[in-house]
Amino acid sequence: MTILLLGSGGREHAIARSLAASPRCARLFIAPGNAGTAACGTNIELETGNFAAIRAFVLSHHIGLVVVGPEEPLVKGLVDFFEADTELKFVPVVGPSQAGARLEGSKDFAKAFMSRHSIPTAAYRTFAREELAAGRDFLRTLQPPYVLKADGLAAGKGVVICPSLGEAEAELEAMLGGKFGGAGARVVVEEFLSGIECSVFVATDGADYRILPVAKDYKRVGEGDTGPNTGGMGAVSPVPFADPRTEAGAGFMARVEERIIRPTVAGLAAEKIPYRGFLFIGLMNVGGEPYVIEYNVRMGDPETEVVFPRITSDAVELMTAIATGKLADYQLEVSPQVAATVVCTSAGYPGEYKKGYPILLPDAAPGALDAAASPATDAIVFHAGTAAQENRIVTAGGRVLAVTGLGATLDDALAAAYATVGQISFEGMNFRRDIGQDLMPTPQPAAR
Ligand code: AMP
Ligand code: GLY
Repeated sequence: MTILLLGSGGREHAIARSLAASPRCARLFIAPGNAGTAACGTNIELETGNFAAIRAFVLSHHIGLVVVGPEEPLVKGLVDFFEADTELKFVPVVGPSQAGARLEGSKDFAKAFMSRHSIPTAAYRTFAREELAAGRDFLRTLQPPYVLKADGLAAGKGVVICPSLGEAEAELEAMLGGKFGGAGARVVVEEFLSGIECSVFVATDGADYRILPVAKDYKRVGEGDTGPNTGGMGAVSPVPFADPRTEAGAGFMARVEERIIRPTVAGLAAEKIPYRGFLFIGLMNVGGEPYVIEYNVRMGDPETEVVFPRITSDAVELMTAIATGKLADYQLEVSPQVAATVVCTSAGYPGEYKKGYPILLPDAAPGALDAAASPATDAIVFHAGTAAQENRIVTAGGRVLAVTGLGATLDDALAAAYATVGQISFEGMNFRRDIGQDLMPTPQPAAR
């Protein structure tokens, strides 16, 4: 089968690596890809938002499966575009319809959906531009801190948490006043939930579903969860409190499945919203009870870099089953290994940063462009923001690499990841040294 994968980040490198490993993958194209995906297939210069160009490529290259990595093409209706086209409608696509993508594209839609299907989430109300006064009144009924969310896609910056009522009122006014452009034309104001977050990934064909390994990501740029939010500085999988192999984890996941996953998939079906793709449920564990913080309609990044390496069953079969409604027949297999990924970023990220610095990769990586495997340790170097330039690999984004270690324990996985990070360098490289530390078993006091 000839496959087209859309996207260019670490998530896409991780997906590309799993697809390329399948005997069912005859040829893989990645659009636009990065220097790492070039080792898994052929990168092509195609913009993920240019549907006409995607159409021409799919038809001319006899693509038999399209996998959509990021949310933008889904929110813009790529799947509906395929379905409305007499020639494209026979090409299976992994990704929800535009209606399904509203779970990520509109926070108000997501909240209203949860409310219709009694899915646990923070109490909320949505306010439009002309409802500033009502919004202020609602804020006064809540306890600090205050959570304000721009309704639309705002490049991951649309959620603001305000410690005081005064700041929340000012933020609401700024958001409704156009701080995030059209994305903030409506603002969701919600109750703050206190707990530990995790990312639950579900593959669904609209009828059946499979729960993929749970991950935890580290969003803040600084150690000890300090500083501004990023796209993600690292991730680990499994997450002890959500690991079905432990009694507590199995109990937690049973509640997640019963109260959240099942009603979400059933709710989409009941509302006749076609959904064949990945659903990413951002959860807060509030004293053992799961609440939905947000839905995303794609895999997470960097979570994919710890989730996909743990999936040992065939990735092309998984994607095909999702896209063709055959998930009921798919046997998902997951490795018991722990995976931990450490993201290496450009100096200045998540603020302004420079690009184009040469990257020194581990010696063990065979060939300049085939850098995925580091035989020296059980680690995989996933490329995120990289580009190939005259036989060199250079930085081309804020998040540059995601180095995933695998091991029998979290300790082993982290050791493998950090050993390989230690062999990598580029001008201004930054990374967090405390990924996974909060999940380490607390040392027991020595017996006297
Ligand atoms: P997002 O940018 O949508 O990924 O959300 C940003 C972050 O805001 C989430 O990962 C949570 O850490 C936090 N957050 C969002 N909603 C809430 C809430 N109701 N209570 C507490 N934290 C929240
Ligand atoms: N790591 C969070 C996300 O992909 O949105």
